[in-house]
Amino acid sequence: MSEISYPFEPFKIKTVESIPVTTRKEREKILWDVAKGNIFNVPARAITIDLLTDSGTGAMSDMQWAAIMSGDESYASSKSWEVLEATAREIFGMPFILPAHQGRGAEHLVLTVLLESITRPVVPGNGHFDTTSGHIQWAGGVGVDCICDEARDPHNDSPFKGDLDPGKLRAEIKKAGVGNVPLVILTITANTAAGQPVSMKCIRDVSAVCKEYGIPLFFDAARFSENAYFIKTREKGYGNKPIPEIVKEMFSYVDGASMSSKKDGLVNIGGLVVCRDRELYRKLANMATLFEGFPTYGGQAGRDIAALAVGLREGMDEHYLAWRIGQTRYLGAKLRENGVPVFWPTGGHAVYLNISEAMEDMPLAAYPGIAFQNAVYVEGGVRVCEIGTILAGRDPDTGEDRHPRFELVRLAIPRRVYTQTQMDYVVGTITKVYEGRENLKGIRLIYEPPVLRHFTAEYAEMELARKG
Ligand code: F0G
Repeated sequence: MSEISYPFEPFKIKTVESIPVTTRKEREKILWDVAKGNIFNVPARAITIDLLTDSGTGAMSDMQWAAIMSGDESYASSKSWEVLEATAREIFGMPFILPAHQGRGAEHLVLTVLLESITRPVVPGNGHFDTTSGHIQWAGGVGVDCICDEARDPHNDSPFKGDLDPGKLRAEIKKAGVGNVPLVILTITANTAAGQPVSMKCIRDVSAVCKEYGIPLFFDAARFSENAYFIKTREKGYGNKPIPEIVKEMFSYVDGASMSSKKDGLVNIGGLVVCRDRELYRKLANMATLFEGFPTYGGQAGRDIAALAVGLREGMDEHYLAWRIGQTRYLGAKLRENGVPVFWPTGGHAVYLNISEAMEDMPLAAYPGIAFQNAVYVEGGVRVCEIGTILAGRDPDTGEDRHPRFELVRLAIPRRVYTQTQMDYVVGTITKVYEGRENLKGIRLIYEPPVLRHFTAEYAEMELARKG
């Protein structure tokens, strides 16, 4: 199959939700007068296509809605919990299952419990997600990035650019001292590395290194089934294996996982921890009772838990995954065909535009990622998200902006929500902004909070002298 063509949607539409259609004038007014230039502050009622995140934004199936209606709201050990526990045990092959209110709740439990007895814990990974890094820091630790070199090259065609480099891992373990490394985390797929997948070989190799040093290995498993689909389609020996078998094998190499259910769980809220060790489970369950809720509901309603049990299975359906990954590839390939620099190959849940390449003449001090993201909204009412200098924040010591390796803009695709015509509309909108990029104004900050500035900063436009 070519990059452009992909299978038809293996579902039909039973319920629809109207999407707003606005004029350019309305969008300009909303962006600057209401939202002060910050796309997070644009009301959803003024967004035509929302590609801000793939988290909690998917469409549930008729079977999930049916499960919602039969959700059991008993406080403890509900019928819905029994179903979820049995489902998760079967899918992940882990005996202990603990629900949490969402991914970061699950991370809070795992990282607090595993890091608490170490003075300066070091947690290696393949590029931790922001909330994971935040929880490592909160627990007094530091995260280190051991992702493979291929991940740093936006043009390299490697099939598994999310892989963790076992050599770098060994070096970090030696540097930190084994006793200071409470766990290693593999994020599947690697969201901070453009959604690139991790190979089974890498999982196996990293597991062997961890076993050698006696260090637990955990997944950040938010997009576990998309990762399994890449293994099936790109890794030798897996082409004929069913997705559930691949998932089982992936989890057979790790000691546990934290997971946001809002992605491949196909639900709008929720999280999970799974693990093998009873003692660890007991500690996690104690923490959960304090922070999340009784260990059979963990901050979720019985109906949410019931919908997740169905969603976990639907997310592993091969026809669905072929369509899903195909849609992401389609969006990336169409943009690339139009000359827009795209981080390549496309990952599972999102297309990442390489703004460092697209707008190389705009100084980073003028925040080209924000300028581009805002222009996409004004052009077509499409909400996308800068993953660049503003997101990276300031160096706490120098107060200077931190510059990530690439200034990116992410187009995250909600699951089972948008059609091909809508993707074509996105392609048209972004291509138009790209072609007119020389006329984009720079951005300056007019308000900046001390932490997590991308959520609440306010901006104004400025004229600027271009580099070169
Ligand atoms: N881990 C990964 C890899 C994630 O992508 C996310 C969330 C989390 C953990 C935290 O999960 O939101 O349920 O608490 N990612 C979203 C995103 C927010 O837009 O990429 P959560």
